[in-house]
Amino acid sequence: MEPNLPETLLAQFSDYLAARVGLHFPRDRWADLTRGIALAATDLGFPDTATCVRHLLSSGLTQSQIEVLASHLTIGETYFFREPRSFEALAQQVLPDLIWSRRADSRSLRIWSAACCTGEEAYSIAILLDQLIPDIADWNITILATDINPRFLRRAAEGFYTEWSFRGVGADIKDRYFTREPGGFRIIPRIKALVTLAYHNLVEDRFPSLDSNTNAMDIVLCRNVLMYFSPERARVVVAHLHRALREGGWLIPSAVDGAPPLFAPLVLADIEGASLYRKRAAAFPTPPPPPAMPIIPQPAPASPVEPIQSAGGYQAASALHDKGRYGEASEKLLGHLSAEPGDVPAMLLLARTYANQGRLADALQWCTKLVAADRLSAGHHYLLAMIQQEMGALSDAATSLHRALFLDPQFVLAHFASANLARIEGKRPEARKHYRNALQLLEGRAPGDVLPESEGLTVERLTQIARHAAEMIDGGRV
Ligand SMILES: C[S@@+](CC[C@H](N)C(=O)[O-])C[C@H]1O[C@@H](n2cnc3c(N)ncnc32)[C@H](O)[C@@H]1O
Repeated sequence: MEPNLPETLLAQFSDYLAARVGLHFPRDRWADLTRGIALAATDLGFPDTATCVRHLLSSGLTQSQIEVLASHLTIGETYFFREPRSFEALAQQVLPDLIWSRRADSRSLRIWSAACCTGEEAYSIAILLDQLIPDIADWNITILATDINPRFLRRAAEGFYTEWSFRGVGADIKDRYFTREPGGFRIIPRIKALVTLAYHNLVEDRFPSLDSNTNAMDIVLCRNVLMYFSPERARVVVAHLHRALREGGWLIPSAVDGAPPLFAPLVLADIEGASLYRKRAAAFPTPPPPPAMPIIPQPAPASPVEPIQSAGGYQAASALHDKGRYGEASEKLLGHLSAEPGDVPAMLLLARTYANQGRLADALQWCTKLVAADRLSAGHHYLLAMIQQEMGALSDAATSLHRALFLDPQFVLAHFASANLARIEGKRPEARKHYRNALQLLEGRAPGDVLPESEGLTVERLTQIARHAAEMIDGGRV
């Protein structure tokens, strides 16, 4: 395929990519851009690159075209324990401190490898945790690994790697955590089971959200991807990653992703020669709210039916929640609920704000009250299930989802969550059935509709996410 493109077309296309996809290609990176377009054009079925670019410029990008482009315009290259200083900082300080503080109470940890590529980063974390926590089987560990490229996710789900992925590690890791097979090494099931793979686009998907399990993280690794975004887009993504962290949580970018100002209001810490960023605790001044995700349509604001005399309390709390100021929101809601103990929308929001802070015991308590106040709301049982799942109470979560579906068999998100839960538990036929149900229910609906009980998830987006998740099962690799 002819890789040369007229400069005017390249300039136009790089502006267009920055606006639509957030990927940033200044003139000195046009050679990379041209190479990436050539590969994408082949994947998208165009006879040559110029036809591909002209078509995309004139007809607009579909979601799947965006994803094909993103996967070719960012390098899908990674390996185990890449950038060893970050892993040293995690092994020597960040994780031991976290493990020590959690050992006394919840015995839970939540870590997200955002833009995980083929999974090496997430499995490295799982290996590290296995080494640091002797009684790991008694812990509730979440390692969420997400990427925009379904092909990479499928490879991560296979967990099979060639020698090249091990260039950063010694033979002991390979011997202990992999089994040798012809042509490479396969991750052992115990470590694989610690990682949950999911499709997620950092630019387009709304987060943090309980629906995608992207809330209340202790650590987010987002390495070697922000550097591809335009500065404005990178700032928006960082602002949302900031919200996805618990207070005191850590964001770990790579050294090339950006300078410290990009990560404000997170606080820079130099540990073992690595630059890590930490979310301030409530005692520090409150950071400014993150800018809104520009592409996703904002859901209509909730219009709770509430007593007029306390409207200010609820509304102020809701505004704080929307800005990611969860601690302040929950304080306000507690005040409001002491005056209006039966206010269902306030209880619902309080359970969510606690869940977003990682205060799961409080979230559970308020969600249980919420369910007791209105047993017939499928949405309440669904929220309860999301909290129970986060707490590692999987069979309770399954029961709550069952109740939600009994009350509302058309509840798409509850089918999707049931599928995810079954997938985590290795129950493939059940997972398949629920993904199928969710996809069938989504079929007849307008793509742009925001799903009820979701935090802004559209029909189109959930359809894509559920399809990718179902494919991972149907490939028989989960
Ligand atoms: C170089 S790899 C980084 C892998 C790993 N984090 C590391 O540092 O070794 C970049 C990854 O970013 C993913 N990516 C690109 N744009 C993305 C987006 N908008 N949302 C999520 N992932 C994205 C690509 O598919 C690719 O897997």
